[in-house]
Amino acid sequence: MNEHAHPLSVSERADELEEEKMHEMERIITKSTIAHLMDGEVKMDTSPEMKAKYPGKFFLMGDDPRLPPMPEKPTLVDYFRHRFASTAHLLQSATHALKGGQPEKVVLACLLHDIAIVSFIRCDHGYWGAQMIEPYVDEEVAWAVKTHQALRFFPDESVGYGYPALYKELFGPDYKPEPYIVEEYKRARAHKWYMTSRLICVNDIYSFDPNAKVNLDDFVDIIGRNFKQPKEGLGLDNSPSAHMWRTILWPTRFL
Ligand SMILES: [Fe+2]
Ligand SMILES: [Fe+2]
Repeated sequence: MNEHAHPLSVSERADELEEEKMHEMERIITKSTIAHLMDGEVKMDTSPEMKAKYPGKFFLMGDDPRLPPMPEKPTLVDYFRHRFASTAHLLQSATHALKGGQPEKVVLACLLHDIAIVSFIRCDHGYWGAQMIEPYVDEEVAWAVKTHQALRFFPDESVGYGYPALYKELFGPDYKPEPYIVEEYKRARAHKWYMTSRLICVNDIYSFDPNAKVNLDDFVDIIGRNFKQPKEGLGLDNSPSAHMWRTILWPTRFL
C-alpha cells in the first residue's frame, strides 16, 4: 500500500489513515474552505474532484457519523455535552462567578464567554460567541461576551485586574493588541454595561485549576431561566444565528 520511497512523516501517515477511513464511509465528507485555510492551504473540495476520488458515492447532507449523535431538538446543554470540545474553563469561570455572588446574568456570561473557542472558531471568539447567543440571551450578556475579548488585554485596578501574566507567556512580552481591539476597548470602557464584561475577565483569570470540581448540572437551572431555548431545537429555529448552530451540528454537510 505504501509506495512512497521515503518513510512517511506522522502527518502524511495521518492523511493516509484519514483517506482510508473516508473510503469506508457511506457518504463523501467534505471540508469547508475555512478548514483548509486553517491547515495553511488555500484550496477547496470541489464536487468533480471528490466524486472522482470516491466513485459511486453521494455527498453527506446530514449528520457526520464520526461525531457524537445529537437529539432531534438539541438544547444548549446538548451542545455543551456533545459538541463543545472542552467545558472545564467555562464551568470553572461560571462557578467562580456563582461563588462570588454574582447575578445570574454575569454567571451566564461567564459560562458562555468562550463558546466560540470550544466549538467554532478561535479568531475573534468574542464576536462569534456573542452572535451565536444574541437571539437567546439578554442583550447585556451578548454584549459582554463580545467585548470581553478586548477588555482582556487592558487592566482595571479598581477591580484588581492586571494584564494577565499568562498572556506574556502565550503571546510574548511585546505583543500589542491590534487597533480594532484598542478601539473596542475604548468604546466598552465608556459603555453602561462595562462592568458586566469586565466581570467576565475578573472571573476568567482564576479559572485554570485542573483540580476544581465543576459540573454542568449546577448551571442547568440558570440556563433554563436565562437562555431562551427554541422549541424547534437550537439551530433548527429561525433566529439570526441559527445557521451558526446548524454548522456546529452538521459541520461537514456539503451545502
Ligand atoms: Fe475569551
Ligand atoms: Fe476565558
